[in-house]
Amino acid sequence: MCRPYGRFGGTMFEQLDKLQKDFESDLASAVTSEALEKVRVEFLGRKGRLAELMKSLATLSAAEKPAAGKRANEVKRALESAMDAAGKVLAAKGPKRAAGVDLTLPGIPVRLGRRHVIMQTMVEMVDIFQRLGFDVAGGPEVEDTWHNFEALNIPLDHAAADPDNSFFIEDRTILRTQTSTVQIHVMEGQKPPIRVVAPGRVYRPETVDASHGYMFHQLEGLMVDENVTFRDLKAVLNLYVREFFSPNAKTRFRPHFFPFTEPSAELDMACTLCDGKGCAVCGGKGWLELLGCGMVDPNVLRAVNIDPERYTGFAFGFGIERPAMLKHGIRDIRLLFENDARFLAQF
Ligand code: DAH
Repeated sequence: MCRPYGRFGGTMFEQLDKLQKDFESDLASAVTSEALEKVRVEFLGRKGRLAELMKSLATLSAAEKPAAGKRANEVKRALESAMDAAGKVLAAKGPKRAAGVDLTLPGIPVRLGRRHVIMQTMVEMVDIFQRLGFDVAGGPEVEDTWHNFEALNIPLDHAAADPDNSFFIEDRTILRTQTSTVQIHVMEGQKPPIRVVAPGRVYRPETVDASHGYMFHQLEGLMVDENVTFRDLKAVLNLYVREFFSPNAKTRFRPHFFPFTEPSAELDMACTLCDGKGCAVCGGKGWLELLGCGMVDPNVLRAVNIDPERYTGFAFGFGIERPAMLKHGIRDIRLLFENDARFLAQF
């Protein structure tokens, strides 16, 4: 069945295929009813290309005729129904379509979205720690009180665990109030050496104002290994501050208390606006509080079965909104969550 037939060479099947392809491409570029009629005459007319091919069926042997005839009829039906459909489309679109389409007109612009400024900031921060060898970890936002409080050395009668200070889902299940919970999840699943940062959303029943929301973002850090010291903590955090804010940033570690670290500190940066002299942004103090940090309390390590005699570690945590606002000169935290595209498109 594959030997050549017809005037143009190629088997009958090949010629039918070619005819169908030619028809389809001519039909696609026929945008007026006149052009459509021309295509019809050329392919389906009484003396058209299909009719010619049909005639040459007669030259085939009795064995070959039935299959070739069947294929020719299929092609004919396909051409006719494509012709029909094209005619209907043209009629529906009316004279305007029939007069042609101006392909040189500009297209309809598509507005591109962008990362929210908080996500941009988060990515920038995480990137700095990744370059220092930290992995990225995550944990649930709906959390049990063990991960949010007890395992972090916060007894349930501590002020931080007061029921008024968390959103409760049910008894002992809350929306996490801090990303420190992820420290516990990571250490439950992995033994030292550990070096992770955990960005994420946290929730507190705060009254909303220019600097507070009931939901905000934090970034937590944890490093646990043999011989980790406060010096490592200072080195990592100083690098982060200089990388994120400015190579000339001045920092100080001020003693503080957190239940899950001992000793604990807060890290301040000399106000970048007034250079430490005191202004409205730093409340006249000359310093901006950046984060809480400290050496992981041995009780926390014990809660996740890590031997505090062998391993030590440091942890830190901070909110993402404030540094983002500082960097971009945003004065009201509510602007970040109103989802006004005109505001967000600036960043
Ligand atoms: N979780 C603390 C908060 O929400 C921040 C924090 C302080 C995290 C000290 C730490 C840390 O890991 O060591 O205020």
